[in-house]
Amino acid sequence: MDTEQLARTFIEYFEERGHRRITGSTLLPPPGDPVLFTTSGMHPLTPYLEGRPHPLGSRLVNRQRCLRTTDLDEVGDATHLTVFEMLGSWSLGDYEGPQSLEWGYGLLTEGLGIDPGLLHATVYAGDEHTERDTASLRVWEHLGVPVEPTAEDNWWSNGPVGPCGPDSEIFLWSGEGPPVSTPTGDDRWVEIWNHVTMSHRRLDDGSLVPLPQRNVDTGLGLERLASLLQGRRSVFECDVFDPWRRLVPALWPLDEPSLRLVCDHLRSAVVILGDGVRPAASGRGYVLRRLLRRALTVLRRDDPSRTLDDLPPELVRHTLDRFRQDADPGEVLRVLTGEESRFVRLLERGRQVLARPRFRGPLTEEDLHYLHDTHGLPRDLITSLREE
Ligand code: ALA
Repeated sequence: MDTEQLARTFIEYFEERGHRRITGSTLLPPPGDPVLFTTSGMHPLTPYLEGRPHPLGSRLVNRQRCLRTTDLDEVGDATHLTVFEMLGSWSLGDYEGPQSLEWGYGLLTEGLGIDPGLLHATVYAGDEHTERDTASLRVWEHLGVPVEPTAEDNWWSNGPVGPCGPDSEIFLWSGEGPPVSTPTGDDRWVEIWNHVTMSHRRLDDGSLVPLPQRNVDTGLGLERLASLLQGRRSVFECDVFDPWRRLVPALWPLDEPSLRLVCDHLRSAVVILGDGVRPAASGRGYVLRRLLRRALTVLRRDDPSRTLDDLPPELVRHTLDRFRQDADPGEVLRVLTGEESRFVRLLERGRQVLARPRFRGPLTEEDLHYLHDTHGLPRDLITSLREE
């Protein structure tokens, strides 16, 4: 089953259960939102989770592109991508968490044919302020799915303030033999779907208040589940990466970790550019710049002549198409190569400046400020130049 079939199956399953399909937003949250990028399917729906009636009713389903920089250090492992798609379903003050879990189980086992013996669940164990999620616990016991209660891992929020609540996560066994241990005990249990009961809001002072309505917010990582269903070892081997894995190694021979990082960061950069962001010294543009510079640093480490001028336009087109973006691939490539030239000039200047006797020994905070303010050299770049 490829990712498109998986997305279709998910959406139709929820449509058959009274959910209306909504169009996903871009990666850019609305003005005034303190978060730089859309990080989850629920993010654009925040006002509706907080009680505003949604024009399409109280049951919704969609696919949403998301970007998570918190996972940046994990990129390159088998399950994390910087930009990914999330399939989501919502009850806005309509049905409760147990119903969502029963449907979730039905979709995974009957709809997608997953062996129920390969599933494990976790539920919220409760703490001094909030109750244990016994309703979800009972559903899993009734369905015969092993379940593990945890505290911190089963409370979901989209940031320090805003809607949040207890969640129940569904894990799929990715190991070779029969399943062993539990999700917190063995990382071959891969989280595939999170069902959150959005019942509370966290205020600036850290306190929790109940929301005007109890909602359900679920999120399933499309590429992650697709790669498991396709029997692949990592998200980088699912079908969306096919052209990347065909064209990039032929162009730039890279070891597997470097190949993963380069593909993830370049593909993410294309999607961010496709949503209209341009490289900059702060905010969203800086995230884009950092992704590109990390990819370029890895690419140029073994061979400084490697350049994005050679990046096949087909990869840009394929990525924009996948994310249903109508940006001009030629313009995206021009920005990528323009940013690369800027980076290369900065590296040259950095090397010259850092060769001066004054900067040969340990650098003080004052030196770092001077190098940044006068020569435009960021701290992380100085560190990597001094390691060369
Ligand atoms: N909002 C929840 C998540 O992103 C479903 O995991």
